[in-house]
Amino acid sequence: MEKFHLSQRLQHIANFLGDGRRIADIGTDHAYIPIQLAKDGLIDFAIASDVGAGPVAIATANVADNGLSTVIDVRLADGLAGIRPEDGIDTIFIAGMGGLLIQDILTAGLSYLDGTETLVLAPNRDDEAVRTWLAKHEFGILDEDLVEEQGHVYPIIVAGQTKPEVPYTEADLILGPVLRQKRSPLFLTELDKRIDKTAAVLKGLANAQAVPATKVADEQRRLALFQTERTAE
Ligand SMILES: C[S@@+](CC[C@H](N)C(=O)[O-])C[C@H]1O[C@@H](n2cnc3c(N)ncnc32)[C@H](O)[C@@H]1O
Repeated sequence: MEKFHLSQRLQHIANFLGDGRRIADIGTDHAYIPIQLAKDGLIDFAIASDVGAGPVAIATANVADNGLSTVIDVRLADGLAGIRPEDGIDTIFIAGMGGLLIQDILTAGLSYLDGTETLVLAPNRDDEAVRTWLAKHEFGILDEDLVEEQGHVYPIIVAGQTKPEVPYTEADLILGPVLRQKRSPLFLTELDKRIDKTAAVLKGLANAQAVPATKVADEQRRLALFQTERTAE
C-alpha cells in the first residue's frame, strides 16, 4: 500500500470541507484529499477525478489499498465533466493548479453546477483570476486563508452562489476580500513582498527603453494599492 499523509497544504485545504458530505475532488492526482476525508469519516461519497490516465490509475490503486472503493469513485474526466446530477455533490475541491486553469475548468463546467455547491479553490498562482471569475458569475467568497509550505504561500478560496459581498473592489479581487479582513501576519508579509517586487519592477521599467506608458501606469497603480492596504487600519 502506498503510504501517504496529507501535506500541510492539503490538510489545510481539506479542513475547509464545512458541512459537505458528498464531494468532488477535481484534478485529484493521488486522491489524497478524498482518502483522508473518508478515513476520518467526514464524507459519505466522493468523486476523485482527473484528466490524466496516470493519476487516475494511481488514485484507483490508492483508494482500493485503503479499502475505500465503495465510498470514492475514481473517474477519468476533464474538469467538472465527471459530475452527474445523481451524485448529489455538495462540495467541489480544485487544488494545486494555476488560477487560469481553474477559471477555465469552471467556465467549461458551469452546466455541471446547480448553484448550491460550495467551491473550495486553491490555486498555486493567479488567484486574482479565480476571484474575478467568481465575481463575474455571482459567486460570493465565504472564506479565505493562506497556507505556507516549503517557502511558497498558497491561497485557499471558499465560494458559494450566495452573493454575500459582491461587487468586489479591485483590492478585493487582487488581495482577497476575506484575507483583507483577517489581515493575518502571513498576509502582511506577502503584502510587503508584493510592494518590494512591484517597486523593483518599476525601477526596471524606468531603466528600460520603449516601455508602454500603460504598463508603467498599471504597475504604479498596483504599488499604490498595495501601499494603501499596508497602511490601512
Ligand atoms: C499538481 S496536481 C494537483 C493534485 C492535487 N489536487 C493537489 O492539490 O496536490 C494537478 C492535477 O490536475 C490534473 N488536471 C489538470 N488539468 C485538469 C483538468 N482539466 N481536469 C481534471 N484534472 C486536471 C492533472 O492531471 C494533475 O493530476
